[in-house]
Amino acid sequence: MNLKSLLDLLADGAFHSGEDLGNTLGISRAAVWKQVERLRKLGVDIHSVTGKGYRLPGSLSLLDKGIVLDYLGDLGPVLVDQFDLFFSIDSTNLEAMRQIQQGVGSRIIVAEHQGSGRGRRGRSWISPLGASIYLSVVVTFNSGMVALEGLSLAVAVMVRRAVTRCGCHGAGLKWPNDLQVDGRKIAGILLEISGDLTGPCRVIIGIGLNVNIPESAAPAIDQPFSDLASHSDQTLDRNHVLAILIQEMHAGLARFDERGFAAFHDEWDAADVYKGRRVELVSGSNKVTGVVRGVSGTGALLLETDSGIRTMAGGELSCRLRETSR
Ligand code: BTN
Repeated sequence: MNLKSLLDLLADGAFHSGEDLGNTLGISRAAVWKQVERLRKLGVDIHSVTGKGYRLPGSLSLLDKGIVLDYLGDLGPVLVDQFDLFFSIDSTNLEAMRQIQQGVGSRIIVAEHQGSGRGRRGRSWISPLGASIYLSVVVTFNSGMVALEGLSLAVAVMVRRAVTRCGCHGAGLKWPNDLQVDGRKIAGILLEISGDLTGPCRVIIGIGLNVNIPESAAPAIDQPFSDLASHSDQTLDRNHVLAILIQEMHAGLARFDERGFAAFHDEWDAADVYKGRRVELVSGSNKVTGVVRGVSGTGALLLETDSGIRTMAGGELSCRLRETSR
């Protein structure tokens, strides 16, 4: 019996007694209880009420490769052989690295749960099962690392387009690539690049998009966060959300390959939540204070300091912005 079969039975959000679940799955009530505990450890909120049984707080749509491919429309047959869906994995970015070592140059890797999700600046990305989208896209660019300037910001624009199509109209961008609603993060992006300064580069684009984070996950998350379900005017099916995200990434990455960040600059600028605000940019032990004046044509932060406008590009992946009072 695998955990997914139990979750499939609970996915309707209704009560199911341990006995009924056991009968359907061909296991004892005690074995059902053990599996429920395992699912809880993976981050699934399962309520239990004596005399009624177990239920999820709401209905749950588990990811299903066939459904995602259907939603992808014309793109489905193009991507069918490049698509891996894992129920539980350490990290989709780590899996992408393993596949790159085997020679893979283009792949889409998705998981329902990550045990060691990786965030920026060495943080963990808390990844409860069935709650979000954990996606890594492996892509090869042939023009060297310099051509990748601004890619992480361009990806943020692609993710923003996807969440807008999913009915979330107020998402803003925080440099370099966080998606926020009302100051709370709804998606994070982690780029991991290997390859040549001048030749082919393999890029792993890891995206964590909060769709419906259970309350039980909140204490482990060390920054203000929210999710798509709280800000969308649509009823969300994660299979559809994932298909939309893949469509936007597919189209956006092709565009980036042709035109670079220039094709995304204005859209990034229009969604910049820090523009005009006084901030402190922290990079290692360096701190620079100034007013955000937008981003450059290559995605660097333009900061107006006492000594004029400074272009802050280096250490993009290790910088953080915080608003200051003066
Ligand atoms: C951030 O810290 O803002 C970036 C978070 C990136 C999380 C995603 S989830 C899918 C992919 N796999 C990982 O281990 N991390 C990225």
